[in-house]
Amino acid sequence: MPTTQERAYVGASGRVPEGGRLVVDVGEKTIGIFRVQGRLYAWQNICAHQGGPVCQGKMIPRVTEVIDPGGESHGFAFDESHPHIVCPWHGFEYDIQTGVHPGRPAAQLIRVAVEESEDGIYVTV
Ligand code: FES
Repeated sequence: MPTTQERAYVGASGRVPEGGRLVVDVGEKTIGIFRVQGRLYAWQNICAHQGGPVCQGKMIPRVTEVIDPGGESHGFAFDESHPHIVCPWHGFEYDIQTGVHPGRPAAQLIRVAVEESEDGIYVTV
């Protein structure tokens, strides 16, 4: 059965500043919209683990361990250009730009089409 999609205005561009987010209800769905390096990304607010409200979780930079060629650890590095969102229920973490869990590639968020025009931001759900 075909599904109908709805294009919905969610607000002025300023509602999602750089590094920020907006969580909105569109019809029966809740959508999280994020801005990273000027670009918008939108995901359904459903964690791939057990359906938690992932888009309302903490936003953190990607953390990587710095290991030298000999295998010795030199602590952690924080990559602000690749922010992650952490589900508040059990801590599953997703790259905001890809929607993919960094350690479990099968765990992915559901992408929502998002566009920005002169009058603001639209999603299609
Ligand atoms: S529901 Fe998101 S981590 Fe479990």
